[in-house]
Amino acid sequence: MPIATEIRPVPGTLIDSAAGLVAVPVVRGGEAPTVLTAGAGVEPAELDARLPASAADLLAHYDLTGKPGEIAQFPADLGAGLVRVVLLGVGEAAPADLRTAGAALARAAKGHSTAATTVALLESVSRGGADALAAFAEGALLASYRFSLASGTKGPAPLEDLSLVGADSAEAVSAVGRGEALARATALARDLINTPSAEKDPAWLAARAGVVAANSGLHAEVWDEKRLERDGFGAILAVGAGSDRPPRLVRLDYRPDDPAAHIVLVGKGITFDTGGLSLKPNDNMKLMKTDMSGAAVVLGTMSALAALGSRVAVTGLLPVAENAFSGSAQRPGDVITAYDGRTIEVLNTDAEGRLVMADALGYAVAELAPDALVDVATLTGAAKVALGTGTGALFSGDEALAAALSAAGQESGEPVWRMPLTEEYRELLDSRVADLANIGNGGYGRPGAAEAALFLREFTGGLPWAHLDIAGPGRSTSDEGVLSKGGTGFSTRLLLRWLSGSEAAAGSGGGAGHPHRRAKRS
Ligand code: BES
Ligand code: MN
Ligand code: ZN
Repeated sequence: MPIATEIRPVPGTLIDSAAGLVAVPVVRGGEAPTVLTAGAGVEPAELDARLPASAADLLAHYDLTGKPGEIAQFPADLGAGLVRVVLLGVGEAAPADLRTAGAALARAAKGHSTAATTVALLESVSRGGADALAAFAEGALLASYRFSLASGTKGPAPLEDLSLVGADSAEAVSAVGRGEALARATALARDLINTPSAEKDPAWLAARAGVVAANSGLHAEVWDEKRLERDGFGAILAVGAGSDRPPRLVRLDYRPDDPAAHIVLVGKGITFDTGGLSLKPNDNMKLMKTDMSGAAVVLGTMSALAALGSRVAVTGLLPVAENAFSGSAQRPGDVITAYDGRTIEVLNTDAEGRLVMADALGYAVAELAPDALVDVATLTGAAKVALGTGTGALFSGDEALAAALSAAGQESGEPVWRMPLTEEYRELLDSRVADLANIGNGGYGRPGAAEAALFLREFTGGLPWAHLDIAGPGRSTSDEGVLSKGGTGFSTRLLLRWLSGSEAAAGSGGGAGHPHRRAKRS
């Protein structure tokens, strides 16, 4: 469901705004918080006169500190009739502060149709400048997101119209546009993730990708099961074999003029993960409509590259399959042949994500030879146990790429934590009958997330590569801050920041390994 809120940069002043809710920013001062009136079109004394008490007294009365997202609200007549006045904490007005403040404002404004604020005026005083304004818009829109298939409306309606008074300069308008693009790309990913699997089968997801591609200037190509068979995508086919809804591979291409580098993104697209014959218990299975989060994140990211003016060529690969339980499903003990020609002993059919990813990575190495590969997947419960729902796991052997992705995550408020690719653990994946086994043999205490990462690394042909395991932060259990219950689209904004910044343009980020083509084995 598209985000209902529209953000409008408008000229004018706060007191003549016709909005039903007016948010006045409160900055965290050196000694005491202060209400920011500069540029609001009202002198501090005049504002004091129109509020129920002076701003200083109100701040003291509500014990406000100016902490980002802090809110006190009361009715007052600022000059255009009685409205809801919100004192909105914006901290030091750094981008992260304003993202939090934007989200808090959008949540406080639910049930109102119009709101206005002068937060944009902070642009001149804040450290991040335009980035802070972009983050404010991003936070407000993300917090307005909701997904509901209920027949009636539930709860207060999201804010329709948020006016940013005084943010009508060209620079401000473009900053707001950037924040909007990031939020709408994330909302697209969330919608796909939240769609129930009864509707969301591989063909459906591939068709959605085609529509998104057409709307955002991408070239799209889809492999159906026959073409997957013909081209040797043995692992995608094996994972999809148990479902009567056959698998797909989607390739999306973004090509700016004179690209600075070529990046391939791979996203895990399991439209439902029963575990296959290695069946999951119900408690673990009931959330598995979200197991295509990686594919949704890649699709959301690709949808906004043009709007954000990315200078790198990006190919998105979405291996999409349903991991079902049936008589035609692959069996534990089966040996399958991946796209790159290597054989894999499938010892646990619930370790299916790494299988479909292996085929997509193998294709990228053989056919695309990019400057760097980045994959995103809800890959292991172990990553969730290690880092919880707030932080993604980052695995990479490339220092520069890892640093660039970590920095992008820090900026976007989607933190990732670097995990080691411990070399000794690689032997856990040795198989007696095939080139590799798809799970570890139980040694070294079963390091689940690292085993999965080491498995994927086998298919990256020595190219600069990073793996994001988002099994933890891919889902939220509550509506809080910029998150809404359900799919989060975690890492969409991280990838977009990286791909539209200058670092991705340096290929891997200036790091390892000259890209080379690996001969396809047959
Ligand atoms: N999709 C799951 C991982 C997952 C778990 C995502 C929890 C989100 C929340 C993945 O396919 C899986 O089942 N992984 C197994 C691997 C094991 C069989 C080696 C796991 O983590 O238990
Ligand atoms: Mn699984
Ligand atoms: Zn899975």
